[in-house]
Amino acid sequence: MQNSAFKVLEILERAIAPISGEAISNELGVTRSAVWKNIKELRLMGYDIQSSQKEGYRLVHSSSKLLPYEVHKKLHTQVFGRNLRYFEHTPSTNSIGKQLCSEGDLKKLHGTVIIAEEQTGGVGRMGRAWISPSGGIWITVILKPQVPIDHIFMITMAGSVAVARAIRKEFEIGALIKWPNDIFIGKKKIGGLLLEMAAEADTVHYCLLGIGIDVNNPVKDFSADLQRDITSISAEIGHEIDRASFLARILKEFENRYQLVESGEYDAITQEWKSLSATLENRVQIRTLRNSFEGEAIDIDEFGALIVRKDNGKLERVIAGDCYQQ
Ligand code: BTN
Repeated sequence: MQNSAFKVLEILERAIAPISGEAISNELGVTRSAVWKNIKELRLMGYDIQSSQKEGYRLVHSSSKLLPYEVHKKLHTQVFGRNLRYFEHTPSTNSIGKQLCSEGDLKKLHGTVIIAEEQTGGVGRMGRAWISPSGGIWITVILKPQVPIDHIFMITMAGSVAVARAIRKEFEIGALIKWPNDIFIGKKKIGGLLLEMAAEADTVHYCLLGIGIDVNNPVKDFSADLQRDITSISAEIGHEIDRASFLARILKEFENRYQLVESGEYDAITQEWKSLSATLENRVQIRTLRNSFEGEAIDIDEFGALIVRKDNGKLERVIAGDCYQQ
């Protein structure tokens, strides 16, 4: 159904004045009742379309949903997001990614982006729940990487840099990256990334880069505890934003940096990551599965590991764990 509805939408978008159902039906070679059905479908998708018997239809406002049609209009990538899968509700876009990868041709799936308006079982790092109400950006990018397994974390780093850059370019707010993959504005988290992969020996079959960003979802809907630690784009700039443009920007920034990762230009990524880091040169407390210690975060290496100088002067290389800073 949707294709024909979007043909009607294209006509409404082009029209400089209200347009009659008859004119639309003539242009598309369909009946007037088909046009009426399409108008109803578009309204259900969130498009504000006025109709008057005398003048016809007028598009008052586009949908604020993150519909593939809206994202594609703004997209400047070669591969990422050309194939979009959209869900109103789903437990987790990463789970959908796993399902698609287990059934489909990975080469064809490379660059596919799964979008959820709302996730009912969103997952964060360390298996934590990730609250994902409507208004945020909850996506997973499917990748079939040509990247050696020991450098796979570079993909998350490229993603974090892309998100921070996209926020800076679109909204002129100083987003920073907290190791390993949190996006912060000041002392508050605005987004996070989660890389999952399927690998065997040293072959990576596929990766799923989940990206979650609080955008237009009201922070006041979070629990009091979370409200203290979390912000959103709309809370920072004082109004709701066009998520489709923002997502298109993220995908463009990510695609550019992903190409650097695939061509082995890891230094370009680590340098940019460092320039956006909220962690380096700070006192940190590290908790890994095995131990917990404090020190100063002094560097990251080309594998994305955090280098911490402990109080006894010894350097510790942290590959995975939680990093707390004041
Ligand atoms: C973190 O813990 O900071 C990472 C959060 C990643 C959340 C995103 S939202 C889209 C994708 N689907 C999920 O279930 N998780 C990731």
